[in-house]
Amino acid sequence: MPDHLPPGSQKPSQASGHNSGHGFATRMSHGGRPGVREHGFVNLPVYRGSTVLYPSCEERGTINARSFEQVMTYGTAGGPTHFALENMVAEIEGGHRALITGTGLAACTLPLMAYLSAGDHCLIPDSVYGPTRRIADGMLKRFGIETTYYDPVIDAAGLAALMRPNTKVLYTESPGSHTFEVQDIPALAEVAHAHGAKVLLDNTWGIHHFQPFTKGVDVSIQALTKYVGGHSDVLLGSVTVATEEDWLRVAGAAREIGHYASPDDCWLALRGLRTLPMRLKHQYESSLAVARWFESRPEVLRVLHPALPSHPQHALFRRDFTGGCSLFGVVFQPRYSTKQIDAVIDGLKLFGIGASWGGYECLALPTTHYISRTATDAGVLEGPTVRFHIGLEDTADVIADLEAGLDTLPH
Ligand SMILES: Cc1ncc(COP(=O)(O)O)c(C=O)c1O
Repeated sequence: MPDHLPPGSQKPSQASGHNSGHGFATRMSHGGRPGVREHGFVNLPVYRGSTVLYPSCEERGTINARSFEQVMTYGTAGGPTHFALENMVAEIEGGHRALITGTGLAACTLPLMAYLSAGDHCLIPDSVYGPTRRIADGMLKRFGIETTYYDPVIDAAGLAALMRPNTKVLYTESPGSHTFEVQDIPALAEVAHAHGAKVLLDNTWGIHHFQPFTKGVDVSIQALTKYVGGHSDVLLGSVTVATEEDWLRVAGAAREIGHYASPDDCWLALRGLRTLPMRLKHQYESSLAVARWFESRPEVLRVLHPALPSHPQHALFRRDFTGGCSLFGVVFQPRYSTKQIDAVIDGLKLFGIGASWGGYECLALPTTHYISRTATDAGVLEGPTVRFHIGLEDTADVIADLEAGLDTLPH
């Protein structure tokens, strides 16, 4: 429990927490709220601050020893708004503690920098989020860290063959960016741990439907920008760890580098969490209906959605995930050109064309040129590929819009 706080401001509601016995929606409604109402208001206020004042020099002198606890030492160590969000995210992921970063990408890069040193080797899936590949090929390489890209659907024996004595990190992302391969995280984590490597997971797609720490993950990364923010107007990330040892490592690196997130953005993310369960449920179900509709269309070669039985790793998805989100890919028939498919996307009424996902609105992004592979054949390039994000719109309206678009293609 944090101290040095305004009275009661961080006391969690009795209805929140892992042991409350309550469901996800109840916990998201009651978590991170002040136990003692501040002026009667429901919500925790935004606490902004750099300087923290102390009653005496003696007390100030003791504070550094506690700087990785939820104690206010200086603005960069966080304040009550950060701590409330940290606690909520740690709870969603079932972790020990979470750290909030300014962007999702910062959450991807921070643990790489925390665990890797010059001379180390790192394994990254070929389907990784593009900017994570960029730091491996750029800064990590420049700092003397070697990366091997691996097939995201590699099995335990295949991974064991890639492990070296200096392999310190197995990075994972499941499903993979743009191509949506589901990784066998428990099997891969077992191999990594047997070789003394840490397992990092970009769990942005899984959110709370994939519980990383019951499946061998050491560090779980989320781009809170997506469904937690939920309204396409905030950028944030989180790094959640399983143990205090990992916390000190990651929080220590964050402090060295100077990571920080705006408390205003943390407050917006806390607001987003209140409705996350309902938004996710609607968007996931709607995405499944749209994905199934795409599968029924002759213009489509295949749909890349892990929750569809046609997905090559659907069995793994069913074993390890309790649900999903609303982001998936569609590979169109190779008889269509990218230009023809781009024209369909341009003509859609309800879909914006742009990056990111997890907001309340539908998005479409032609992804063929985003898929950068060095270790494997992406296998999705048989035809023009588009990533769809389904928002909170009525499913029937979304399908009608897409239908009008596909009907313009020659048959
Ligand atoms: C899988 C994944 N991880 C991380 C990120 C980075 O998030 P942000 O946009 O907040 O930097 C993204 C963004 O699209 C993403 O798709």
